[in-house]
Amino acid sequence: MMVQYNFDEIIDRRDTGSVKWHYSDDTIPLWVADMDFKAAQPILNAIEQAAQHGILGYTKPTEALYESIIQWHGSRYDLQLDKQNILFSPGVVPSLALMINVFTEVGDAVLVNDPIYTPFMTKVEQNGRALVMSALKEFDGKYQLDLADIEAKIIEHKVKLYLLCNPHNPGGRVWTRQELEALLALCKKHDVAIVSDEIHQDLTLSGYTFTPLLTLAKGYAHKVVSLTSMTKTFNVAGIKGSMIFAKDDALIKKISQQQQLNDEYELNLFAYKVMRSAYEDGDEWLEQALNYIEANIDLTISFLEEHLPDIKIMRPEASYLIWLDCSAYAQDNQKLYDKLRDAKVELNAGVKYGAEGHLKMRLNVACPKALLREGLNRVSAAFSGDVKA
Ligand SMILES: Cc1ncc(COP(=O)(O)O)c(C=O)c1O
Repeated sequence: MMVQYNFDEIIDRRDTGSVKWHYSDDTIPLWVADMDFKAAQPILNAIEQAAQHGILGYTKPTEALYESIIQWHGSRYDLQLDKQNILFSPGVVPSLALMINVFTEVGDAVLVNDPIYTPFMTKVEQNGRALVMSALKEFDGKYQLDLADIEAKIIEHKVKLYLLCNPHNPGGRVWTRQELEALLALCKKHDVAIVSDEIHQDLTLSGYTFTPLLTLAKGYAHKVVSLTSMTKTFNVAGIKGSMIFAKDDALIKKISQQQQLNDEYELNLFAYKVMRSAYEDGDEWLEQALNYIEANIDLTISFLEEHLPDIKIMRPEASYLIWLDCSAYAQDNQKLYDKLRDAKVELNAGVKYGAEGHLKMRLNVACPKALLREGLNRVSAAFSGDVKA
């Protein structure tokens, strides 16, 4: 039976320990990347069933769980996986740190793009590696990889590992097959390992095609890893749980050995249950959530174009995060952030994503329309006076 989800429902998240809703006043959070939508019913049922069963003992991945992961990725993205290609990890960010330790030694150079989701930078630095950044080039309102700059930096710094974000956070690009092939060719030429964070894969928006890096890695599989999760897709980030995919047996063994060092290769019971129910029965929710998100993106862009025409908007190809160039309205990053906070709306400060984020802000539109409209009114009021969305 078809379930019609109500994404307009406003659910009070204050006093739930939510990272996003940390305020003691009525500030509207349009920042950290989770959605203010209730999770899919099959996921909630799976959690309830586990609680009802009542015994919450040590848990391991079942054959049915592996099958659900293999099916999801095979049918959606033509990524052919076997059970032995899959490892589990408590999160994609912990996996990024793990990969840094699998592929590099202390002092080695690791390349990431600028801008980039903040932990790409912090995990490299905290693990004592040299952070090298290649700025994305803006062309026609979209980011592009600067392959010449990437190659020059690989050579100059003797880069050992490239951490790719596909789809890209915060720019929203879904890198095309051609772009990925060119990047892989470059990495292969210089013997650079490449780890692709694909956590936003399932949030690819209409008109775009997500290509898992592993589908292109033939002949280079010993140096290619994908990291992904059901948590971003199905708005269950608090559950914690993710996957590591690699197609080379020796590489999987090496990653597994690295995981053993901290004994971090198992998930909690709820993560296994949620993962399976999401991949088996979550597609109906996801389709409706994506339609709602696309409409929110349209609403936001129309509003900003009308009321704050000097903000330069990067329309995302995936996910619900919109990258805004606010340089026409501010000269100082802290003042820009504070101005919005004073208007009781919070966005992510772009400068946290690298130097390219100077005077930019990241706006999360995955919330009920009424909240989004009020949040946009406040953004508008902060910059230009009182305008209604
Ligand atoms: C690109 C990217 N990677 C990883 C994460 C977080 O992953 P996890 O919660 O599994 O550590 C996020 C969350 O926003 C993200 O945007």
